[in-house]
This record gives sequence, C-alpha cells and structure tokens, in this order.
Amino acid sequence: MNKTSETTKGLLEEMLGLLDPQKASLNIIDDLDRKNKDLEAVQTAYMKFMDDMDRKNRDLEAAQKAFMNIMDDMERKNRDLEAAQTAYMNIMDDMELKNKELDEARAYADNIIRSMTEMLIVLAPDGTIKGVNKAVRRVLGYDEDELIGIKINSILVGEETEDIFGSLAKQEFTVQSEKIFLTKKGEKIPSLFSGAVMRGSSKNIQGIVCVARDISERKQMEEEIKEKLKESTAQLVQSEKLNALGEMIASISHELKQPLNVIKIISQSLEIDIKRNRFKPEELTGNISDIKKQVDKLSEIIEHMRIFTRKSSTVMEKNCVNRVIEQACKFFSQQLKIYNIELTTDLGSDLPQILLDPIQIEQVIVNLIGNARDALNETERNDGRIAIKTHKTDSSTSLLGRESVVIEITDNAGGIPEHVLKKIFEPFFTTKAPGKGTGLGLSISKKIVENHRGIIAIETKGGEGSNFVITLPAIAEG
Ligand SMILES: Nc1ncnc2c1ncn2[C@@H]1O[C@H](COP(=O)(O)OP(=O)(O)OP(=O)(O)O)[C@@H](O)[C@H]1O
Ligand SMILES: [Mg+2]
Repeated sequence: MNKTSETTKGLLEEMLGLLDPQKASLNIIDDLDRKNKDLEAVQTAYMKFMDDMDRKNRDLEAAQKAFMNIMDDMERKNRDLEAAQTAYMNIMDDMELKNKELDEARAYADNIIRSMTEMLIVLAPDGTIKGVNKAVRRVLGYDEDELIGIKINSILVGEETEDIFGSLAKQEFTVQSEKIFLTKKGEKIPSLFSGAVMRGSSKNIQGIVCVARDISERKQMEEEIKEKLKESTAQLVQSEKLNALGEMIASISHELKQPLNVIKIISQSLEIDIKRNRFKPEELTGNISDIKKQVDKLSEIIEHMRIFTRKSSTVMEKNCVNRVIEQACKFFSQQLKIYNIELTTDLGSDLPQILLDPIQIEQVIVNLIGNARDALNETERNDGRIAIKTHKTDSSTSLLGRESVVIEITDNAGGIPEHVLKKIFEPFFTTKAPGKGTGLGLSISKKIVENHRGIIAIETKGGEGSNFVITLPAIAEG
C-alpha cells in the first residue's frame, strides 16, 4: 500500500468515528484527560522553574552582597594601601633626611678630626694603634701605615702600655698627664696626654681614644719664663741684699769706729812716746800687734761687706747655721744697744751640717732682725728683746719629715695683726712709711728659704710678740 491509500484509510476511520457518537465522546474525554495531564506537567514544570528562579535570585542576592562586601573590603584595603604608601614615602623621605644629616654629621666629625691640632690616636684594647689623624703624622713625621698595627708605647718614651691601660681600666679615662712622644727622626716631643675608654653595646672595651697636645713650644716658653724669673728674682734678691746692706752700714759705723778708736789711741800714745823718746821695744811690739789685730778686724768687716754685696749666683756649701747667725748678729749688736734692744742668742751645740749659701741665709737673718727692730721701735717700749735660738729636730718631729735645723727669731713687739699676717709674704707688702721699707724683705726671705728646701713659718701672739721659725733640712748622712 502506498502513502496516499494509508492517509485515505485514516480519514475514513475518523469519519466513521464521527459517525459513532459514543466513541466520539470517549475520544474527546481521552483527549481532555491527556491535555489535563499535559497541563499539570506544564504547571509542575512551571512551579519548579519558579522555585529554581527563586533560589537563583537568592543566590544572586547573596552573590551581590558578597560582591559589595568584597568591593568594600577592596576599597578599605586600597585606602590602607594608600596610607601605607604615604607612610612608606614619609619613611623614605625621613630616611633620606636622616642619611643626609648622618652624612653631614660624619663629614663634620671627619672635618673636626682632620683639622684638630691635637693628635688623635685610636687604640685597640691591647694598645695597638688602629687609627691616627693628620696631626699625628704632622707632629711625629710617620706615615699612617707605619703607625697602624704597632704598639703605642713604641712611640712613647719610658711608657709601658700597661701603665696607660691599668689606669684607664680603673677610671675610664686618664687625667691629663705629660708624656713624651718620639718622632720618626728620634726627637722628643713633650705632650699633654689623655685617653678615654670606648665601650661596645655589651660594655666590653672596644678600644681607647687618646688625645695628645704637642706642648714643646709651651715647654720652651716655660723654660724661658723660668729663666727670666730666675734672673729677675736674682735681681730682686740683689736689691733686697742692698737693703740689708743698708741695715748693716747703719750699725757698721760703730763696728768700724771701735777698732779705729783703739788704733787711734795706740798710735797717739806711740806718738807721745816717740816724741819723749821713752818707748820700750817690747811695748812697741805689743802696740804694733794690737794695731794689727784691729786692722785685721777692720779688714774682716770690710771683706764681709764686699762678699755680701757681691752679685753672685747661689754658692752652696756645707756649713753650720750658727756661724752665719753669729756673723749677722755682729753687725746688729752695737746698733740694737743704741735702740735699747737686747739681742740674745741660744745656739744649739749639736747642730747637723746644712747645705747653704751663707750670704743668702745671713740676708734672711738680717731681714728678720731688722723687722723685729722696726716693730719694737713702733712700740716705744724700753725692754725690747730679740732672741735667736737654734736647735735640731729629728724626722719624727721636723715639719720637713727628716732631720733638720730650726732657727727661731722671737721678739716682744706685740705680734702681727691678722690682716698683715695674711699678706706678709707678698712682694711689696709693707706697713712702713714710704722710703722706710720696700716690702720685699719677707718675700725674698721666703724664696731663699724655699731654695734651700726649707720652710718659714710665723707664730704670733697679739699683745706679746712674733716668732719666725725657719726649718732647714740637714745634709743626709752617708
Ligand atoms: N716681727 C714683726 N713684727 C710685726 N710686724 C712685722 C714683723 N716682721 C714683719 N712685719 C710686718 O710685715 C711687713 C712686711 O715685712 P717685709 O720685711 O716683707 O717688708 P718691710 O720690712 O716692710 O720692708 P723691707 O724689708 O723691704 O725693707 C712689715 O711692713 C711689717 O708690717
Ligand atoms: Mg723687712
């Protein structure tokens, strides 16, 4: 059967069906049933689709929310990033500034070290030189690499590295002390040296920074000044000696007059005897020997005056102070009698010898007796007394801590007031009328005593008097 005949058969059957109403209605119901089922399926599918849509919407919302959160987060993170960037930029700027400041500070410090006139030496803890500045090279004449690695004591005279480090370990820095550096040429350079310990963060000693100043010029100047001072002191001593000489001349006229008078009397009697032609040879010899004695006495006085005024440098000799004191008293005894002042001496017989310049010590004694005399004259008392005593002291009682001789010159002129006592040894301090005192007596006396390694002290009691005490060291035995 072909296709056309099949279609025709179907149509015929359908027309037959239409012609059967029962069958037709059953078909319609079947059809309706089927369509209802289709509808239900469509509804179910629709509901499912709607549920699906609902769920998807919720997911979408959640996704949207999450997206928003992420966006917020991103925004915040961006802001944090920006802030971090700004902070980073600031830190970088700051670092740059600090680096610049550090460079400047380093350059400044380098500059200071380079232009320092003081020598700067950096040492390792064992005393090895680790660094030096330009001044070290300039003053000592070494190249830097000749110094790096050697021990500091090899360029110091008579210094042990341990000495420097020993004191540093105790006190962190050395007080300035004088040390002598050796230049490459072997010259000695005196310097003022100080060192300070450099410690690391764990307090361990990293090294020592030493600073030394070349003081050779200053030393030379000091020497020159000392020399000049010596000269001017010598001049002052000399001028004060002339002062003391003045004191002597005042009393010496009596000293000279006495032998001259004796000579005069003897020669007068001789003259008379010659004229009368009645001299006996033995008497004549006796007279001539008396004249000779007196002439010797005169010569002795004149010779002493000559020696006393002689401008000489200090001549130290072993001597006993008693002899010097007796000599000084000789000139004063006559003069003091006129002033109604009693001069007594109580000189120890067992005194040790002293190394002294007799003229200078005599100058001191003359000054002190002259001062006591002037003070007594001021008092107008007529029982004035000047007493000179000498005795020895042993090392336990001597102010010098060794065997010494003590000279005490005591007066009863009423003592020295506090305000005078304070200035008494100052040069040119005097309470005497112009032309009467230069105020140099005691300052020169002090200088002379100190040059003899001794000391001069004053004990004074108001209302009574003063006691000038000179202690001089005895010559050490052996
Ligand atoms: N024994 C003494 N008693 C009281 N005052 C004294 C005594 N010795 C010194 N002085 C006082 O000390 C002062 C200083 O004495 P210093 O010998 O130095 O000088 P000066 O006697 O005044 O003068 P110069 O000795 O040079 O002629 C004296 O002016 C006097 O005031
Ligand atoms: Mg005087």
